[in-house]
Amino acid sequence: MRIFLDTADINQIRQAAKFGVVSGVTTNPSLVSKEGVTDYEATIKEICASISGPVSVEVVVEGVKAMVEQARLISTWAPNVTIKIPATSEGLTVTTELAKDGIKVNFTLCFSLNQALLGALACAAYISPFVGRLDDVGHDGMQVVKDIVDVFKHYQLSTEVIAASIRHPQHCVTATKAGAHIATVPYSVLMQMIRHPLTDIGVDRFLA
Ligand code: G3P
Repeated sequence: MRIFLDTADINQIRQAAKFGVVSGVTTNPSLVSKEGVTDYEATIKEICASISGPVSVEVVVEGVKAMVEQARLISTWAPNVTIKIPATSEGLTVTTELAKDGIKVNFTLCFSLNQALLGALACAAYISPFVGRLDDVGHDGMQVVKDIVDVFKHYQLSTEVIAASIRHPQHCVTATKAGAHIATVPYSVLMQMIRHPLTDIGVDRFLA
């Protein structure tokens, strides 16, 4: 399973890039606005230059025509941009259009196997089931990830599954076991993944 960083914080991205274990970044409008960004394009370009892998950037307009136009524009900002399109009926049309142009789509806000299957059939490069938000409403988010992974494997669909809306390190454990191709994690969770109190105690003892 590969790790993407789920943030628009350039300092976190630069820091995580140094670890050598992060192979992409996912952003969304909430994450970007949290950074108090005034120049969206400049921020995205800076992020794209800070990491060699794919950077997911979400469209922030509605309607097929407007989404396709904005996606085409954003895709010119950097060679490693992937466009996040929401899992709606309009999003399917947009995904199909963009895929025909060779633009990679991350089919996002995905909450069911059916949405994921349709995204894959529309030739999205990635689909993002939101595990934490499913858990929030009493569903088993990781079971949805596992079902999608199994079905994609069975039908040999090449769309990759990004376990998203990851809230804690146990989500990373279960995402790995579910066979997710990628988990996109907040910086705080990435740090929790590497920390173990027994390692800290062991290091202190050896030093003593
Ligand atoms: O990867 C999607 C993520 O940014 C959403 O996370 O915690 O707002 O559900 P959350």
